[in-house]
Amino acid sequence: MIWIRGGHVLDPDTGRDGIYDVLVADGKVCRVQEPGAFFGGEPEGREPCRVIDGTGLYVMPGIVDLHVHLRDPGFEYKETLTTGARAAAKGGVTTLCAMPNTKPVTDSPEMIRAQRERAERECPVHVSFVGAVTLGQEGEELTDIAGMKREGMACISEDGKSVMDAKLYKKAMETAAREKVLVMAHCEDQNMVKGTVIVNESKRAEELGLSGVSNAVEDVIAARDILLAKETGARLHLCHCSTRDSVTMVRLAKEAGVSVTAEVCPHHFILTSGDIPGDDANFKMNPPLREQEDVEALIEGLKTGVIDVISTDHAPHGGEEKAVGFRDAPCGIVGLETSLALSMTELVHKGILTPMELAERMCHAPARILGIDRGSLAEGKCADVILVDPERDWVIRKEGFVSKGKNSPFDGKEVRGKVVMTMVDGEIVYEEKKGFLK
Ligand code: DOR
Ligand code: ZN
Ligand code: ZN
Repeated sequence: MIWIRGGHVLDPDTGRDGIYDVLVADGKVCRVQEPGAFFGGEPEGREPCRVIDGTGLYVMPGIVDLHVHLRDPGFEYKETLTTGARAAAKGGVTTLCAMPNTKPVTDSPEMIRAQRERAERECPVHVSFVGAVTLGQEGEELTDIAGMKREGMACISEDGKSVMDAKLYKKAMETAAREKVLVMAHCEDQNMVKGTVIVNESKRAEELGLSGVSNAVEDVIAARDILLAKETGARLHLCHCSTRDSVTMVRLAKEAGVSVTAEVCPHHFILTSGDIPGDDANFKMNPPLREQEDVEALIEGLKTGVIDVISTDHAPHGGEEKAVGFRDAPCGIVGLETSLALSMTELVHKGILTPMELAERMCHAPARILGIDRGSLAEGKCADVILVDPERDWVIRKEGFVSKGKNSPFDGKEVRGKVVMTMVDGEIVYEEKKGFLK
């Protein structure tokens, strides 16, 4: 039994936003009450109840990160299930969705089952697996969506690329609609990026001598996918929105009753192409850093709820792979250990989102979109709980990452807000003072 005393509960599900005591037992949130209500407020003699002083801390549902690359199997030098899941625990992420662009690609019921069983054995947090839309992510033949669902797949996505054949993608969406499977879309027109480098077409790209990609590369596929969702009734989630027009399209689609949700990643609402310091591939990701107007639209989208979710697109790569410069380095940056601090610093402390709205975007909305019974501190729910010190100042240092990936554009950045404890199913898996407990 764990008794978290006097913390500031932020629970979008019940609307609790204030000081409460939380009692965790048998893996569940057992009671949430005014301080002092348990045992007459007297912890003595209540062993084996562990008492945690929550004074000055936020008590939130664990973060649900819809968009993570774990690289396992096939690229274990970049990340493994275990290193990725530990990075998640440290960052306050208690559930994550692992994208299928591994080697081999996660594209069959057998692979979903094998991955799921491994994760259950090896990972300190919940790891759900995303199935590919086409076999080998080759864009030609659809995977067994129903079969993967039966084996516990989280949703489908071709992340890393788009399925360019709209007829085939429509068929996938029809199946997804029938099977009630969420479709997560990486929007990028493959033909438009040929011969370019993934950096936004901008003054900065010119200065760096790079021929970049325009917003339309994302926007034309976002429009297409929304229209296909409208026609098929599939539930669509747009990954890593980075452009002002993608926000407009999501807003219009929602107003028109299309079943669409959207996510944004911290780097896209914090940085612009102008922040690329030089030929440094730690600033290279797909979609790329855009311009100030895009950042403003993404922030506005987060504020109004047009953008439902903050996810990371945690994409670890090897140091040497990233050292070769913008032109040739692979796309992607890590995010699991920094997303909460970055979002607290840039959104909450700047007065853009309330702490409760942040909990909605990072913890509750993603769980709802995924259709899992988590992301809530209501009594009776699974006790995936994090404790966050909202006022703690610290500096992001890549050497301190437990992820194998050190590729972050935020290395050296001063942030405010730190995860001090992570609990999964009522068990403490990470504690700042003690490290990993599982
Ligand atoms: O930056 C990215 N990295 N974007 C993607 O879509 C794929 C990801 C990766 O797998 O490295
Ligand atoms: Zn992607
Ligand atoms: Zn991705």
